[in-house]
Amino acid sequence: MVTERGSVELVDVTKRYGDVTAVDKINLEIHAGEFLSLLGPSGCGKTTTLRMLAGFEQPDEGFIRISGQYVQGVPPYKRDVNTVFQHYALFPHMTVAENVAYGLRQKGVNKSEIAARVTEALDMVQMSKLADRKPRQMSGGQQQRVAVARALVNRPSILLLDEPLGALDRKLREEMQIELKLLQTRLGITFVFVTHDQEEAMSMSDRIAIMLNGHVEQLADPETVYEHPTTAFVAGFVGRNNFWQGTATEHGSQADDGTVFVASRPEEDVPNGEPALSAVRPECIHLSSAQPAKSENCVQATVAGVSYFGDVLQYVVRTRTKDLLVLVPRTNPERFQVDDAVWCSWSAEDVYLFSARQANIVMAAPSATA
Ligand SMILES: Nc1ncnc2c1ncn2[C@@H]1O[C@H](COP(=O)(O)OP(=O)(O)OP(=O)(O)O)[C@@H](O)[C@H]1O
Ligand SMILES: [Mg+2]
Repeated sequence: MVTERGSVELVDVTKRYGDVTAVDKINLEIHAGEFLSLLGPSGCGKTTTLRMLAGFEQPDEGFIRISGQYVQGVPPYKRDVNTVFQHYALFPHMTVAENVAYGLRQKGVNKSEIAARVTEALDMVQMSKLADRKPRQMSGGQQQRVAVARALVNRPSILLLDEPLGALDRKLREEMQIELKLLQTRLGITFVFVTHDQEEAMSMSDRIAIMLNGHVEQLADPETVYEHPTTAFVAGFVGRNNFWQGTATEHGSQADDGTVFVASRPEEDVPNGEPALSAVRPECIHLSSAQPAKSENCVQATVAGVSYFGDVLQYVVRTRTKDLLVLVPRTNPERFQVDDAVWCSWSAEDVYLFSARQANIVMAAPSATA
């Protein structure tokens, strides 16, 4: 049981809207002071989960504890959380300071305390200098900072952020990612951060909860999620992967196209003869003009496309049956051109093996003809 201030616990929480089960028996423990991201495709239940934490929605089943307290029936303003939304919706006719003060005024907090807390909150996001500006006189990033200050002014021990950077362009978004992460580290409060952007989740989070169809597929730190995905969905959704459908063998799988996989650390125990999925990340495939001296974990292909990305070269190579994505460091001496015959090979440690009964995979390889 988690009781610490700033901790969050969801136990078997379910939320339905008519026939739609938006959140399906979700279980999640969030530690005090942690930066936790809810990452998943559109419609997987991220916002619904956050809204139940905020108190805007009530679970149909299960329970939620915030800072050790059961919050069933507790209204949003009495919870130890505040929310920052994607569309930060500042009041256009109010100054920055008035926007931040608004909630406290509504609560009847006295004037001198409001002034002190507004100053404190604006200092946290480095917006004190612009306290007298109106929202339209500021950039998107500055407005987002004000939205964060407006939530922090209540001194919550948990901040809920629903795609707070979604409206910003890429450059600003990256700057704000660093800024928010620094802010969270400095304040030491819990951030529950919703995003469908896996790079954003990877770069900011202590742990990531990868969601699918209203439940958590995997909960782990970014490195573990990337290197040891526990389901085929996670393997395809976080980073990129090449997948082969086939049948489980004693040491790995035999793909339908004949490629033989030997896996040194299968992610799932797939019984012999069962449908299996093998996967290899693009950066784990080695390209060579020479045929490898092994019959497993390799396949012959033809280069169908090359793109230069500065640090890496991205190849799309075509086997007899499919296109594979391959990433090779720029410094690799061997370069290939379209129509070159190549051998793709990989080591057994880099083979992921999953049961294929679960069909939700995000396929990585692009069409080479594109
Ligand atoms: N008020 C509502 N009434 C009916 N269905 C809803 C309602 N809110 C959400 N849903 C449904 O519940 C599911 C989960 O929605 P939710 O908004 O939590 O997804 P999400 O993960 O936040 O997606 P996105 O990345 O698109 O914001 C979806 O199928 C959605 O259509
Ligand atoms: Mg959402």
